[in-house]
Amino acid sequence: MSTAHGLLEGKQGIIFGALNEESLAWTIAEAAHREGASFVLSNAPVARRLGSLDGLADQTDSPIIWADATSDDDLEALYEEAGTHLDQIDFIVHGIGMGVNVRKDVPYEELNYEWYKKTLDISAISLHRIVHHAMESGQMADGGSIVALSYIGAQRIFSKYSEMGDAKALLESIVRSWGYRLGKRGIRINAISQSPTRTTAGKGIAGFDAMFDFGEKLSPLGNASAESCADYTVTLLSDLTRAVTMQTLYHDGGFSAMGISDEVVMDLAESFAADTDA
Ligand SMILES: NC(=O)c1ccc[n+]([C@@H]2O[C@H](COP(=O)([O-])OP(=O)(O)OC[C@H]3O[C@@H](n4cnc5c(N)ncnc54)[C@H](O)[C@@H]3O)[C@@H](O)[C@H]2O)c1
Repeated sequence: MSTAHGLLEGKQGIIFGALNEESLAWTIAEAAHREGASFVLSNAPVARRLGSLDGLADQTDSPIIWADATSDDDLEALYEEAGTHLDQIDFIVHGIGMGVNVRKDVPYEELNYEWYKKTLDISAISLHRIVHHAMESGQMADGGSIVALSYIGAQRIFSKYSEMGDAKALLESIVRSWGYRLGKRGIRINAISQSPTRTTAGKGIAGFDAMFDFGEKLSPLGNASAESCADYTVTLLSDLTRAVTMQTLYHDGGFSAMGISDEVVMDLAESFAADTDA
């Protein structure tokens, strides 16, 4: 656990997407709490059964408001109820994602389009909805900050990431489109493009372990952990980064700037030699 710096002292917000201790949003909530923020936690009603959000709520002294982020009615009700807990909204964290075809092992060439639409709705359009309803509610503070979590599969092909690459490309575009409009009120919005991380969503991607090991061997700093992602996130929620907006910010130990590393070359050389020997 990092040292507290009071970076979010007095700030209030909403954190979406903490399911269990492994969730990136969970670790972000712990870091935001450490930095002095108070916040509402939110997740889909189904997560009440699947996750352990009550524990985090106790630990951070936060209320929970259950809302499906693909439902306008749920989000409208969420902001109404949030208004009874918060004076204003200084920050929002979007840690929501799910690939329905990916989950069901349907290959990209044969996507079920109803599931594909659901994937885009949950993983990307939900960011638009969350920002839209925050603005409609009149609670979003000037100078506020919004952070969404992305993956480099938005920009480059990671074969097993499949439809989620499309969802993340849309998410990053929504960040830019809202960023332009929110800037007029000094509100920032950015995407953090995070390393593979062992979470429920992460482990749901086929070949996750191989992608994790590849990231570890390619990145000069190794894969970025959930804890370091949370530390980076709180800097973006703080006033110290008030001129940063509309960006996809790589939090990946250097992965995105690499081509190949000695470690990967050696591994490949060994596996090619083994193939030749066989
Ligand atoms: N784990 C990784 O390797 C990795 C890497 C880069 C980016 N990300 C992104 O980080 C974010 C958080 O994922 P995570 O890895 O912490 O996994 P996670 O499974 O812990 O979190 C995903 C969350 O989305 C919530 N969710 C799903 N459908 C919802 C809905 N309809 N309404 C509201 N909430 C809903 C789930 O309940 C869950 O809490 C996602 O956007 C994910 O794509 C993850």
